[in-house]
Amino acid sequence: MSSDAHAIWDAERYQARHSYVWQFGEAVIDLLDPHPGESIVDLGCGSGQLTAKIAERGARTIGIDPSDEMIAQARANFPSLDFRIADAASLTIEDPADALFSNAALHWVNDQAAAIASIWRALKPGGRFVAEFGGKGNIRRIIEAAGGANPWFFPGIGEYSALLERQGFEVRFATLFDRPTRIEGEHGMEEWLGMFGSALMRDPKSVAEKLRPEMYRDGGWVLDYRRIRILAIR
Ligand code: BEZ
Repeated sequence: MSSDAHAIWDAERYQARHSYVWQFGEAVIDLLDPHPGESIVDLGCGSGQLTAKIAERGARTIGIDPSDEMIAQARANFPSLDFRIADAASLTIEDPADALFSNAALHWVNDQAAAIASIWRALKPGGRFVAEFGGKGNIRRIIEAAGGANPWFFPGIGEYSALLERQGFEVRFATLFDRPTRIEGEHGMEEWLGMFGSALMRDPKSVAEKLRPEMYRDGGWVLDYRRIRILAIR
């Protein structure tokens, strides 16, 4: 995750209440298909759960995140793994990696061209870039209820593939799909807005009340997530 749109992360609250972020990310690891001995960068690793899943498959991992709170939490969770504080747009890796993975992070980055250039530099020729994040139309209803200004980057397949191709990547797979995401609890939407939506609005309670008729069902909230998932080769 970049600190661009969200300066301070409450890593403990993130870990306790937002575990769906890395639970859904396991499907992206299947697309990454890590092999024993490969070197793999996890960009926007948050509290490190997916980095650890990739390491469990035998890869040598480096988890990167711009938030010192998240990196401190990741190191506490997985003390034997390598975690570093860095921003997507200025990332530098000493030895280019076999693959770079990123889940639910790249929509926070302001300078996408700079991030793609650093991803390119972080990979060996033939290296894989595998990412999933918010795609075109992601959380459209939440943004509308909060007043309509979108501080994130939610591209369509054409837009993002063009950026990758401009850098020299070969896009081998791309998909955009609805992924309704359930958050349990009466106050789930307010918690989500409090954790992630500070760039969007100041009053989580009134935004949650606007959304309640369409998103609150059976004791939980179903958020209108939409994902772009992509595999490109350097
Ligand atoms: C997302 O994962 O789609 C997302 C999370 C927080 C803010 C915006 C989007």
